[in-house]
Amino acid sequence: MQIDPKTAPAGAISKVINGCVVPRPIAWVSSMDAAGVHNLAPFSFFNVAAHNPPTLLFCAEVRGTDGGVKDTYNNILATKEYVINIVTEDLAEAMNLSSTELPPDGDEFVLAGLTPAPSVRVRAPRIAESPASFECVLSQVVPIGDGTPGSSWIILGEVVHMHIADEIINEKFYIDAQKLRAIGRLSGFGYARTADTFEMKRPPSQLGSKP
Ligand SMILES: Cc1cc2nc3c(=O)[nH]c(=O)nc-3n(C[C@H](O)[C@H](O)[C@H](O)COP(=O)(O)O)c2cc1C
Repeated sequence: MQIDPKTAPAGAISKVINGCVVPRPIAWVSSMDAAGVHNLAPFSFFNVAAHNPPTLLFCAEVRGTDGGVKDTYNNILATKEYVINIVTEDLAEAMNLSSTELPPDGDEFVLAGLTPAPSVRVRAPRIAESPASFECVLSQVVPIGDGTPGSSWIILGEVVHMHIADEIINEKFYIDAQKLRAIGRLSGFGYARTADTFEMKRPPSQLGSKP
């Protein structure tokens, strides 16, 4: 099938792109508004942007239901701080609950039965139940689109502190995927596990070493 995004029927673009760009990692973003109200929501448009400085990105879309802006985005713009927590198999239900659209003063930690734990470098809390949390300070916001539903903002944040459960990391800093058991998002209501893995050694570099 050949699909031109300019003439594709409504809904086709997200179905095709979200069905092919899989599995997507999930940033479970905890933030706080200026008054101190906690907020939590999952974002699967999520990846590593750089290691130096360590930078993660995720994208907050304009809300499809009412064209509004998500609380996560408003909080991060107001406070410049947030935490990206990793979603594991046993936290999947809580993550899903935390995606409920609540009014800005609603606290998804309470709704999902999760524990906000104090962070070290930022005021936003991390999720105590998550085995990996990355405290972030906002570095850049890149707008995409014209502000109508489907448009988004790329939110880039520098990682200023990491919390990694001792059980999932070894003394050489390798993370054990079998113990982390992160989940990824597919299209629609689909999710993937990350415990079914295989390894391939990378071919040696064919670039000459510098004189
Ligand atoms: C697994 C999953 C992944 C999601 N990924 C995104 C995403 O990448 N971008 C986005 O804007 N919304 C995404 N959503 C929807 C938001 O989580 C949802 O709009 C949430 O209510 C936003 O909360 P907030 O207004 O408190 O920020 C996702 C939902 C789920 C369940």
